[in-house]
Amino acid sequence: MNETLDFSENQFKDILAKSTELVLQQFENLDAHKGYHFYPQKEVESWFDEGIPDAGMNAIELLDEVGKKVLQTATGNLGPHMYAYVMSGGNQMAIVAEKLAATINQNQTKWHLAPAMNEIEKRVIAWTAKLLDFPEDSGGVLVSGGSAANLTGLTVGRNIFFEAIGIRKTGLFHQKPFVVYASEEVHSCVDKSVELLGIGSNQLRKIETDADFKIRLDLLEEQIKNDIADGLRPFCLIGNAGTVNTGAIDDLDALADLAKKYELWYHIDGAYGALAGILDSLKKEYKGMERADSIALDFHKWLYVPFEGGCTIVRSWDKLRRTYFKKAAYLDTELANDGNRLEYNEHYFQLSRNAKAFKVWLTIKAYGMTRIKDMIQKDIDLTNYLNELVNAAEDFELVADSKLAVSCFRYIGKMRSKSEIVEFNRELMPALEKDGRVFIMGTSLKGDYAIRACLINHRKTKKTIEHLIEVIREIAQKLELKKQTVIQK
Ligand SMILES: Cc1ncc(COP(=O)(O)O)c(C=O)c1O
Repeated sequence: MNETLDFSENQFKDILAKSTELVLQQFENLDAHKGYHFYPQKEVESWFDEGIPDAGMNAIELLDEVGKKVLQTATGNLGPHMYAYVMSGGNQMAIVAEKLAATINQNQTKWHLAPAMNEIEKRVIAWTAKLLDFPEDSGGVLVSGGSAANLTGLTVGRNIFFEAIGIRKTGLFHQKPFVVYASEEVHSCVDKSVELLGIGSNQLRKIETDADFKIRLDLLEEQIKNDIADGLRPFCLIGNAGTVNTGAIDDLDALADLAKKYELWYHIDGAYGALAGILDSLKKEYKGMERADSIALDFHKWLYVPFEGGCTIVRSWDKLRRTYFKKAAYLDTELANDGNRLEYNEHYFQLSRNAKAFKVWLTIKAYGMTRIKDMIQKDIDLTNYLNELVNAAEDFELVADSKLAVSCFRYIGKMRSKSEIVEFNRELMPALEKDGRVFIMGTSLKGDYAIRACLINHRKTKKTIEHLIEVIREIAQKLELKKQTVIQK
């Protein structure tokens, strides 16, 4: 019997070399990579349909299998033809970071379990706070993504806001309903968060937006007043620093004023857009973001780190501690701590947590913020280029542009009725997915379907944007023809 799971040094070298070869293959000819590989679900399932293996297989052969079944079939996040959801292309330094972090296998929870990684996370929090114009001693934590970051911000909000009534111990029993306010464009993870926090989504007021998809301040204030008059307890106001649908940035300063006036917790969902606030060209759009009590952001979006990497920043470490601290004998390190060690398990929910900040830190150190800013700006410039192409084309219409990197449009061909156009674009999506050269999705804007392109990928160029329009046009024309043929029959 082997005494450990380790390979011999030479075997391990060969395996690492093989994995490097697979990594490099992913970067070969990236422009030609498809956005999506269309395989029927049953076929993909069949690739992995086997019983639990009793004996291990040759690692090189196993990696060959992984290359074929997993890497070569992967949805093209890495390459430039991905436009769906909010998918960044990752970055090469972060690939190395993930490998090194897995090698030393640190648990971030206690300072002495991962001293350097803990200090790195603190540094990343301090840098992020500075980028957001938050106080430098703000507290924060790296979490899995934007959804977890919003849940964390709202959890801190709830526990601090209702601290005086001892909410951590008593729960929500016997309280009058708390009300949370956000625009109708707020991300669905906020619905999930208020449900998880026991507030209930009936208490989430989704306020209508204006023509630019920003929250209507007049309607918001009216709703707060009505809720107070009805005996409810307004608790939290959520601002969008870039909505997922159209990249709309609410009037964050005016929201901060309202939060102050009605003494509400002010949370900002900056998962998609907060990091674009560092661009000189956009600074004024984000005025007021620095006044939030908590903010959620995603490094796996506009810092181009691979999944997962979200972050919540609050205005002090103490607020995190008052939200999460729990004493447990087996976790007590007070004796070894001279008071300077930050214990993350006392400032967050998770006890075991990997070193997410490491890839963020290495990304920022390796490329520098100037280059990262340039890439964010490039994504926005290319989105403007896409909007120009759409506006110039007779067979397309622009439905919503934005200050960020998201564009919503429709193929119109020779169709004239809005309902026909909207329905046609919905039908176009499965055809585009099947083709797979580009991967793009749609959304509903004020009830009507539109194609939505999100361009968070530093590997895109003007040529790839032109390719997007060409592919959509080609597939749309084929679909038009098919529909006409069916009608004629
Ligand atoms: C504005 C906004 N909030 C929250 C989220 C959820 O983030 P995640 O997918 O990282 O959980 C997203 C994701 O696109 C988003 O755009």
